[in-house]
Amino acid sequence: MNFQTIFNQKLPQVEALAPGRVNLLGEHTDYNDGFVLPTAIPQKTVVQIGLSDDGMYHFYSENLNEQVDIGEEYFRPGNMSGAGKMPTLQYEFASYIFGCIQVLKEVGYTISPLNLYVKSSVPIGSGLSSSAALEVATLRGIRQLFNLPINDVEIAQFAQQAEIQYAHVQCGIMDQMASSLADTKHMLFLDTRSLERRVLPLPEGASIVVIDSGVPRTLAGSGYNQRRAECEQAAQLLGVKALRDITDVNLVETLPEPLRRRARHVVTENNRVLEALQNVASLEQFGELMNASHASLRDDYEVSVPALDTLVDILQKTPGVFGARLTGAGFGGATVALVATGEEKNIAQKVLEQYSHAGYSGNILVGA
Ligand code: GLA
Repeated sequence: MNFQTIFNQKLPQVEALAPGRVNLLGEHTDYNDGFVLPTAIPQKTVVQIGLSDDGMYHFYSENLNEQVDIGEEYFRPGNMSGAGKMPTLQYEFASYIFGCIQVLKEVGYTISPLNLYVKSSVPIGSGLSSSAALEVATLRGIRQLFNLPINDVEIAQFAQQAEIQYAHVQCGIMDQMASSLADTKHMLFLDTRSLERRVLPLPEGASIVVIDSGVPRTLAGSGYNQRRAECEQAAQLLGVKALRDITDVNLVETLPEPLRRRARHVVTENNRVLEALQNVASLEQFGELMNASHASLRDDYEVSVPALDTLVDILQKTPGVFGARLTGAGFGGATVALVATGEEKNIAQKVLEQYSHAGYSGNILVGA
């Protein structure tokens, strides 16, 4: 299948792509106005777009072999708040694309009916932001097709709005910013409050290994929104706008449980990101911060699962691994490890073998 056969149209008018991301440090901090440190992964989502000539919007996913057709009447002002009529989109991938178009229409751009073909190598459900990659690729393609005057930060912001409004995940902005602005050779240090950012080379002598735990996760149903609500409650009780405003971890001690532990994770995680910036040169210290991040996500934030703990434990004990942790929202999905460059494949295979002895079945996503 390709664009031509699906849409019976000669060639797409534009093609755009965007990568998935893996977060090295700064987990569950972005919706607390905090700091994050992601990098792009080699896997990408590609969209090809042409104008549609039947007045309908057509979206096709090559990976799923599914097509969704939507009439113009579904894109209505007011739909952003859920007030208008929402189309019942049968397929999740289409709701992200619909959301992107709707968000652009809401701010006043004319987006005429189009044919949009998607193919992706970003794994779905592993915590590597396949949805952000789809949103950013879609918005880039549409920007190019209609010559829209929007920059890469605005692309990330529109993408985040699409996700919040249409995928109903109260996500922060890390994934969309990473997909829009990061590359695979650098880490993107981002202050999610000011959107100030710095691009830093990956720690010298180290490479990234990402292993999927084999335990799938679903963001919306996974307690993500609940964690976010707990953080907001904690911030309110502490009298600050967001937990980002707390830097002294002792201040969270007055909170009732589980808010105390949730807040402690966020405060210490923000401090770890800032500390990592000072220690990019020391692989050992950077690795230790990753290990501490995992312990905090497991014990204080409670977003790990036994499979992730087992995999991280094996990684951390393997020679050549500087540090390892779960990455993304948690509740399943993947781990990220910083390992000695040149050893990626060797280490990943050894780890997978031990992981399978423990009764699990993992999969190398980066570093194979
Ligand atoms: C998901 C969200 C992000 C971020 C991470 C956890 O990937 O989309 O905004 O909150 O979880 O760090």
